[in-house]
This record gives sequence, C-alpha cells and structure tokens, in this order.
Amino acid sequence: MTITAKIIIKDLTRNFGSLCAVNRMNLIIPDELFGILGPNGSGKTTTVLMLTTLLSPSEGTAEICRYDICKEPDNVRQMISYVPQDMAVDTRLTGRENVMMYAELYGVSDPAKKTEDALRVLELSDRADDYAKIYSGGMRRRLELAQALVHNPQVLFLDEPTVGLDVAARKKIWEHIMTLRDAGMCILVTTHYMDEADRYCDRVAILDKGNIRAVDTPARLKQRLSHDVVSVTVKGEYSNISIPGVRFFTQEREELIFHADDGAAAVPLIKDALTGQGMSVVAMTVRSPSLDDVFLHLVGTKEDSSPFNLSSFRNMTGRR
Ligand SMILES: Nc1ncnc2c1ncn2[C@@H]1O[C@H](COP(=O)(O)OP(=O)(O)OP(=O)(O)O)[C@@H](O)[C@H]1O
Ligand SMILES: [Mg+2]
Repeated sequence: MTITAKIIIKDLTRNFGSLCAVNRMNLIIPDELFGILGPNGSGKTTTVLMLTTLLSPSEGTAEICRYDICKEPDNVRQMISYVPQDMAVDTRLTGRENVMMYAELYGVSDPAKKTEDALRVLELSDRADDYAKIYSGGMRRRLELAQALVHNPQVLFLDEPTVGLDVAARKKIWEHIMTLRDAGMCILVTTHYMDEADRYCDRVAILDKGNIRAVDTPARLKQRLSHDVVSVTVKGEYSNISIPGVRFFTQEREELIFHADDGAAAVPLIKDALTGQGMSVVAMTVRSPSLDDVFLHLVGTKEDSSPFNLSSFRNMTGRR
C-alpha cells in the first residue's frame, strides 16, 4: 500500500522582525486527522496561514497535494479549505446564504445542491433560513465547516475548531471532523485542548515557540514517558522524600505529584514516607500519563511572554 502525503512541509520558517514564530518546520501528513498542539503564541496560526497561502514564509516551503504554496498558490487554494480561528460567518445572512456565498465564491457547479448537501451533513438544514446572528456558538462553528466543505476540498485546515464551545458542542464538532477523516480527507487541526487531541487525532505535533518538540500518535507519546503519575492530597509541610524509582514532580496547593516507575508499588512507600514526615495523607491516586503530562514534560509551564495577541485574547474570553 502506498501512502500519499497530502501535506509536505519543508523547513517552513516565519520571522516577525526578530521573533521567529515558526522555525524550520518539517512534517509529512497523509490522509489523517493531524493535530498541531501548542500553547498560546507557539506558532500554530502562523503555520496554518502559511500553508493556506495567506502569509508568505520567510524561508522554506510546503507542498499541498503536490502544489508548492509559494510557486503555485492558486492551485493550492483549489485543493484546500480553511476555517480560521476567528469567526468566519456573516451574522447578517441566513445559514443557507452563508454557505451559498461560499459555493458561488468557489465557483462550484450546482451551488444550490452543494449548499443543501453541506447544510445537511452539518445537521443545519432545519435552521438554514434563520439568520446566523441567532445561531449558538456550536451552530456557527458547524456553519463555518459547511462553508469550508461546499467545494469538496482535499485538505481541510481548522484553527482551534472547538474553542469557546461547551462540552456537547465540542463533541459534535469532533464527530463531524472524524466523519470527514473517515471519508478520506486530510485534516490539519490546531488546538490547545490536550484531551481532545488525545481522543480524536491520529497523530499530533507538539509545538513550542515555533519549534516542533515531538511528532507521533498520542498513544506512543504517552508511552515515551514510561512512568506512572502518583497524586497525593496531603495536610502538612512537604520536604523531600527519597524512594528509589520515585521522583517528586510538582506541588499544587495540597496536592503533591510524583512520577514513579511502578505507580502501584510506589503508593505504600510514598504514604509511609510522608506520614513519617508528620504529614497526613488524605487521598492518593495512580494513573498513566496523559497527553497533558507529555506536553508539560516537553514544553513546561512557562507562560508566553510575547506581545498582546488578539486571537489569544479571544480564546481566553471565549469570544467568537
Ligand atoms: N502579524 C504579526 N506580527 C508580529 N508578530 C506576530 C504576528 N502574528 C503572530 N505574531 C507572533 O508570532 C507568534 C506566534 O503567533 P501565533 O498566532 O501563530 O500563535 P498561536 O500558536 O496560534 O497562538 P494562539 O494559541 O494564541 O492562537 C506570537 O508570538 C505572536 O505574537
Ligand atoms: Mg492561533
């Protein structure tokens, strides 16, 4: 079986003055659901803007369906759709008008039928005549997906598709994304929701300050950590304990987090050591590492110190 890569990224770089927002990125992405994970300001949107031909790279390039983003941007645009991080629907139009506008902009044949198809796939047919102004956040996001799908793209770029949505709306969006993936579309999604990436993405790249720190399936990234996480709720002052195969990781208020080569075996040892220090142990849990743990391990917890970024602000406030 030959796997054809839909996206080939070669040394893709973008500088803004002295800031390197994306640094020599290399990735090969076939038909799959691929996630770019990174904290605010790590370069996710900058990467997507370059791949969708909306921003020129400072160095390097990429091929989308074998077309070069720098030399053949018009061909690239025929192959792709892009749902930006910020709202793309026109709230003064109805749902149907929003999709129809895209169908006509893309010049698809039979725009009326394609519009109805896209609305049906995204479960918006019965609300198609309502103004987008009165759609919920989840419905607007689905409407944006309907707009993106109307010309049947080979590659779909989704920048933070679930930000600002409630749990049920997020699940629904991911279900639609998975259906598209299962139908053979190459989908590149950015997110900083680790649990969603873990559950839904085939592979993920972890991006930190423009640099890719790791690329793999969520399962393999978690396996790489090769330790269990032991969390202990305590009362009292913690000072170091020394147990072979157990490492203190961090403290958050009354919760101590340890990494242990064998979590189950470490539990009684940690409890004895802490009570020996005069602490009382209120609760203990052992779990396998999550993608969050992988992320913290690779990227750390330092906050982004870059200048004010409107998108980050909108993410933070949940305003779409
Ligand atoms: N037009 C611009 N001019 C100057 N700096 C920019 C510009 N666009 C982005 N940056 C900077 O580049 C870096 C990467 O920004 P980018 O928007 O790609 O991050 P992001 O990972 O999408 O963040 P978020 O999660 O907040 O959306 C940030 O430090 C940002 O301030
Ligand atoms: Mg962004």
